[in-house]
Amino acid sequence: ARQVLTDRFGRTVNYVRLSVTDRCDFRCVYCMAEDMTFLPRPQVLTLEEIARVARTFMTLGTEKVRLTGGEPLVRRNILELVREIGGYGLRDFAMTTNGSQLSTMAEPLRRAGLHRLNISLDSLDAARFRQITRTGDLSRVLEGIDAARQAGFRRIRLNSVIMKGRNDDEIPELIEFARRKQVDITFIEEMPLGEIQEHDRGLSLCTSDEVRAIIQRHHDLIPATEDSGGPARYYRMPDSHIRVGFISPHSHNFCASCNRVRVTVEGRLLLCLGNEHSVDLRPVLREHAEDDDRLRQAIIDAMDLKPERHHFSSRGEVQILRFMNMTGG
Ligand code: GTP
Ligand code: 5AD
Ligand code: SF4
Repeated sequence: ARQVLTDRFGRTVNYVRLSVTDRCDFRCVYCMAEDMTFLPRPQVLTLEEIARVARTFMTLGTEKVRLTGGEPLVRRNILELVREIGGYGLRDFAMTTNGSQLSTMAEPLRRAGLHRLNISLDSLDAARFRQITRTGDLSRVLEGIDAARQAGFRRIRLNSVIMKGRNDDEIPELIEFARRKQVDITFIEEMPLGEIQEHDRGLSLCTSDEVRAIIQRHHDLIPATEDSGGPARYYRMPDSHIRVGFISPHSHNFCASCNRVRVTVEGRLLLCLGNEHSVDLRPVLREHAEDDDRLRQAIIDAMDLKPERHHFSSRGEVQILRFMNMTGG
């Protein structure tokens, strides 16, 4: 029989998110502190180790891999890893990126076998975009989105984290942009990961219900019937092919159907985004470099630690000290 990974709550885990770096060329206010120290190189998995993790998960029934960061495209030789994993025959192979390098990287990524891209975009105003990302250049990201559309990905999705008083007034413009570019868009409630000083997450939280009500002033939203297989709940509009998604860790968690685990770039297998439960795979990878059965068994055993759900405080108190760039989203 084909091997599958299941946890104590009967959920099947067939999706792994691999963080390929904790570094990033942006410093988004909801993701990082202004002054970050990044991991020293020896603690970071090599590209070969990351590929081995992907292959091993596939022998355990994984059908979907997403590369995350930090920003995956700042990892040196990332195309080699994409080409390697792209050759494994996954049903779905995706990346989440800030888009800053897509103008040159979109086409090579597509040719290397990547199927899908999620691109972060929180504002269409250059000055605001700079405030939110601290270092980002909007025009380069817009060029990157166009390059991704030209490159022929299966599906492109924009991710917008909406914060009150910051970009909640841009929801209609973001929708029109997505419609014009013919890409999906998902609105995300900010999660309290990592101790940030920049703003009060309790005050800026904009719930998905609020975002949806704003969109519905201009457009009908029809719930999509297909199972998204992810945290986003999708809607369609009668006069467009794009999907509008909502990721609502505060108001509608999707933990009951969670199908995913994460591996940090240090090789820590994280069983849930909103909990600290984890198993360190790096010693297994390094001390048993030839013994895939050891790695397989460590992954199978870890499933017993997967918690039933996360509990995020909507007042923005930090329960998880790790920053999002260490988690990979
Ligand atoms: P799919 O792979 O298509 O399901 O996309 P995704 O939405 O999971 O991926 P993406 O990297 O674009 O993440 C978008 C947002 O969803 C980020 O804010 C993630 O932190 C959040 N997210 C991803 N997985 C989970 C999860 O298991 N739980 C919660 N609460 N949020 C998640
Ligand atoms: N809460 C919600 N989403 C976040 N992201 C980064 N930090 C947070 C946070 N604290 C989003 C990014 C990117 C995805 C990987 O996660 O905008 O789209
Ligand atoms: Fe970088 Fe993404 Fe974090 Fe922004 S959210 S700082 S782009 S890793």
